[in-house]
Amino acid sequence: MTAEQVAREILPTLNACLNGTSALLVFAAWIAIRRKSTRVHRALMLAALGCSTAFLASYLTRMSLVGSVSFTGAGAAKVVYLVILFSHMVLAAVVVPLVLVTLVQALRSRFPQHRRIARFTLPVWLYVSVTGVVVYLMLYHWPRADEPAPASTRAGRDAAVESAETTEIPGKRSTLAALTWPGRPGMVGALFVTPRAPRGGGSAARPPGIHPFPVEGREP
Ligand code: HEM
Repeated sequence: MTAEQVAREILPTLNACLNGTSALLVFAAWIAIRRKSTRVHRALMLAALGCSTAFLASYLTRMSLVGSVSFTGAGAAKVVYLVILFSHMVLAAVVVPLVLVTLVQALRSRFPQHRRIARFTLPVWLYVSVTGVVVYLMLYHWPRADEPAPASTRAGRDAAVESAETTEIPGKRSTLAALTWPGRPGMVGALFVTPRAPRGGGSAARPPGIHPFPVEGREP
């Protein structure tokens, strides 16, 4: 696997996991300080900081190797995506100095000041981490606007049959239809196309049409 493939196929999921873990750790650290457990609060906040730092490094690596990725959805989903992305990006820039100042105050034991600024830092950090996961899901797991219907549906099969390329089979009445998928490279199936005689007898053969058979089935 090349570095670019890793950046394209693995880093987006890794980044989303790091963001999700950060969000959970920050939330757990907040629960800990509500229960007056400073030691646990400190450990969980430092672990969250580690995750967010790893995310930042991985995100910058992915951006430098692959560049930005566009959302493939359309309509209202695109508007929602852009609003989430914009707020995520603005607050991601804001949260870095906020976290650093909050941390420095805690490490210098200036806890009243720490507490005052932390009340902004914590919700902003949570928002940025959670929306990071939402942006990932919308970017990489949202159905494409031009996505063909799945092969299992009637519309999907009709679309495949529509674009079928048929091949004569020497010595047979049937032709073989190679089904290609609109918008997707590669063959997804094959059908035998047989001109059939009408039911109830009669000599005129039914006009040729595509009669689906399972790929693994025998030619009729
Ligand atoms: C950037 C990371 C941190 C964030 C976002 C953060 C967040 C917070 C928040 C929101 C509170 C107030 C909780 C409440 O009143 O409901 C708090 C309190 C506190 N934090 Fe942190 N914290 C961080 C790092 C640390 C670290 C490293 C320590 C190290 C000891 C620490 C020690 C404390 C203490 C002692 C309090 C209680 C202060 C008081 O009640 O006067 N925090 N923190």
